[in-house]
Amino acid sequence: MISQEMNDSLTRVGPGTDAGAVLRHYWQPAALSDELMSGRPVVPVRLMGEDLVLFRDTKGQLGLIGRACPHRGADLCFGRLEDNGLRCPVHGWHFDRSGQCVEQPGEPAGSRMHEQIKSPAYPVIERNGIIWAYMGPGDPPPLANFDCFRAPDTHVFAFKGLWKCNWLQAMEVGIDPAHASFLHRFLQDEDPADSYGKQFRDSAADINIPMTKLLRDYPRPDITVDETAYGMRLTALRHLDGDKTHVRVTNQIFPGAICIPMSREMTITQWHVPIDDTSCYWYSMFTSYTKPVDKSLMREQRLKEHRLPDYAPLKNASNNYGYDPDEQGSETYTGMGLDINVHDQWAVESMGAIQDRTREHLGKTDVGIIHSRRMLRAAIAAVKEGRTNDLPMWGETDPAAITGPISNDAIAAGTTPEEATATSDAARRAACPWDAHV
Ligand code: FES
Ligand SMILES: [Fe+2]
Repeated sequence: MISQEMNDSLTRVGPGTDAGAVLRHYWQPAALSDELMSGRPVVPVRLMGEDLVLFRDTKGQLGLIGRACPHRGADLCFGRLEDNGLRCPVHGWHFDRSGQCVEQPGEPAGSRMHEQIKSPAYPVIERNGIIWAYMGPGDPPPLANFDCFRAPDTHVFAFKGLWKCNWLQAMEVGIDPAHASFLHRFLQDEDPADSYGKQFRDSAADINIPMTKLLRDYPRPDITVDETAYGMRLTALRHLDGDKTHVRVTNQIFPGAICIPMSREMTITQWHVPIDDTSCYWYSMFTSYTKPVDKSLMREQRLKEHRLPDYAPLKNASNNYGYDPDEQGSETYTGMGLDINVHDQWAVESMGAIQDRTREHLGKTDVGIIHSRRMLRAAIAAVKEGRTNDLPMWGETDPAAITGPISNDAIAAGTTPEEATATSDAARRAACPWDAHV
């Protein structure tokens, strides 16, 4: 339980807010590359409460500038994509991808007024299916050398979805290893052979128990957290019968992302990026350590559940997330179908637009959430005091030297959990067709 003042500090994201200032010190997903595949690559982007327009100019370079025309505020999303920039249809003022006004065709000939006119503009880069924006002060830090960035484009599939709630509660469900035994419980096990592209449907690590059964049968994990250069590692132990322990290692990539195992083949690295205070997108990078990702199958699976162009889920509050009490009795813990994304979406949206943390009661299994909030508070203080070197991935360690993060399920039998995780991770990396060594 925290004060209202602290809840505001940790959740609000607009310019000048506490958490917003921390989030702006990191590259954030602004759009999927898929969204710029049309004949006119111009899309609106609302990021941390700021309205922007993202476009690819005639030379193929990306620009992210203010959505409102600096002249009198018309919407540049309807701009003419020409002459290597965007031209406002109202009076023809023309902006390049740095946001500079380079032409005002209706002003008197020889006028140099345009030299003084600049739209807000942010650096953008494109990596493995996602376009990233840096909206903070100074030069952006390099991206860390995470697997989702190192893997070739063939081995990463990116997708996104809209959640109507604050970013922090969206992220917090991802650092809560206990919920998987309940929220995502399937009362029947399905054949792991039918698991491609889905989470929690594979067999657990190298034993022949479906993950669904393991999570169901062992609902009281021992959870520990360790601070790392990139954020936090969470280790959840489920002590099985005999001397075996199931070890699940997941991560928070500070401040808004998580990295978790999806199956033996893939991990999910997922950013929770604020649109504004009360809505956010999840952006997932599914990274394969074996075969190339079947992108068209994964896209097709997910497009069946989402509406374009805003990637809003078809199951949502307006239709009770597809809730079916009969299904809840016999098939799933939620009664909301087999897609675990819908379970998470319901869990975080039903907390309210911004979860009222003055009324919560955290338990022992919430250790990840407690620790993560402590890190966010420390980061807010560091930004306020100008100690940016104290921020994760800003200090001494070169982000390029930050690899992994290790994210897997393993079985410890006669070994420590750390050894089991390390052995399983080393085997995965050794067999990986792209250079995944750490
Ligand atoms: S409002 Fe855009 S050029 Fe006038
Ligand atoms: Fe979940």
